[in-house]
Amino acid sequence: MDSLIIQGGNPLRGKIKISGAKNAALPLMACGLLLSKGSLELTSFPKLADTNSMATLLINLGLKIEIKNDNALIFGRPNNFNAPYDLVNKMRASILVLGPLLTRFGSARVSLPGGCSIGTRPVDLHIKAMKALGAKVKIIKGYVEAQAPKEGLKGCIINFPKVSVGATENTIMAASLAKGETIITNAAKEPEIINLANCLNEMGAKISGAGTNEIKITGVKVLLGTKCKVISDRIETGSYAIASLMTKGELELNNAEPLYLSELNETLLKSGAIIKTSQDKIFVSSKSILPVNVETGVYPGFPTDLQAQFMSLMCIANGKSEIKENIFENRFMHVPELIRMGAKINVNGGIAKIKGVKKLNGAPIMATDLRASISLVIAALSAKGESQISNVFHLDRGYEDIENKLSNCGAKIKRVFNK
Ligand code: EPZ
Repeated sequence: MDSLIIQGGNPLRGKIKISGAKNAALPLMACGLLLSKGSLELTSFPKLADTNSMATLLINLGLKIEIKNDNALIFGRPNNFNAPYDLVNKMRASILVLGPLLTRFGSARVSLPGGCSIGTRPVDLHIKAMKALGAKVKIIKGYVEAQAPKEGLKGCIINFPKVSVGATENTIMAASLAKGETIITNAAKEPEIINLANCLNEMGAKISGAGTNEIKITGVKVLLGTKCKVISDRIETGSYAIASLMTKGELELNNAEPLYLSELNETLLKSGAIIKTSQDKIFVSSKSILPVNVETGVYPGFPTDLQAQFMSLMCIANGKSEIKENIFENRFMHVPELIRMGAKINVNGGIAKIKGVKKLNGAPIMATDLRASISLVIAALSAKGESQISNVFHLDRGYEDIENKLSNCGAKIKRVFNK
């Protein structure tokens, strides 16, 4: 397992080009299964371990994928509808092939994704939606086995008792080729959902209301190839913004979308950040690091995917702060590692209480999940001395070209390839 060696203490100064969003690219790739004709071309496509895993799964289902620079071309027709455990358990978002396979081909057998270190990650809301659209769904030996009626899925009203990004995305894709109209209430409102709906509409779908909590989909007969740009990654943007503050640097983030980060910007401003934005640029520097209390919430609330990164920043704030994690039941795996670096954090239930210290110290630490790993990189960049972060395969799932992006801004970071 590879590790990263980081010599802390250098302020990050320079420019970072933000990549396409992992969490937009994954559902967009699944739309390739809906095609009746033509190909789906995704531009600003991020080359990540997770998009690689999704590509492997789609190829396993029979699609063809050509990736050149930051373009992905998806075409062809599935020759089987079985998403096996060994592929699905590597990347939970594989469950997003369920809706497209079911609505396009009437059948799907998708392994239950299984949990990950941040939580059990159930898919009951995905299954509830497929059943509501008329599918017969059974769980057999760890697989979701779904069968649409021979006349196809039928539109209906689906009210989610809990906001779920993935279940909203699966339902939009399944309803796009169902007969009649589907209304989703209590829908997730992420920018990635808008990106998905816009791409599907370019393919011939009829979707309105994406980005609000009520989305209407009128089923159509066929969906055709198109070209669609993956929106910029708001979580990568927020991660590097926080890194700029924590290292007392000054970063210009390009290909960013300030609109997607209003809640984070507000929080960072309260913590003493200086933020200037223009078109697709965000300039982030810091005067001082003030303590701010934060609660994660569904979009547009404070993103759970930035909770670990913000906690790193609060570790060196001048005062006490509290962070409440409301979305996932176990998303504090970064805490013991930050404590190893000298942070003062107490966790009780879903609340972490942090007492800022002057400086963290470099140490050997371990990445446990994607966002915990970037929070440790950010902490190590600001710490005194050297840190060695193991298990960085977690990082490669969601941060494209991270060593170059950081070292071009003055970071002392190198990867050690362990056999
Ligand atoms: C998406 O995951 C993102 N992943 C996650 O990002 C993100 O943290 C999450 O949304 C919340 O914003 C992708 O888009 C690929 P949910 P998803 O369904 O869709 C519960 C990252 O770091 N739930 O919105 O899996 C669930 O347990 C990743 O990039 C059910 O109870 O999240 C959680 O508590 C991590 N039943 C809450 O809902 C279900 O059927 C929100 O989950 C589905 C979810």
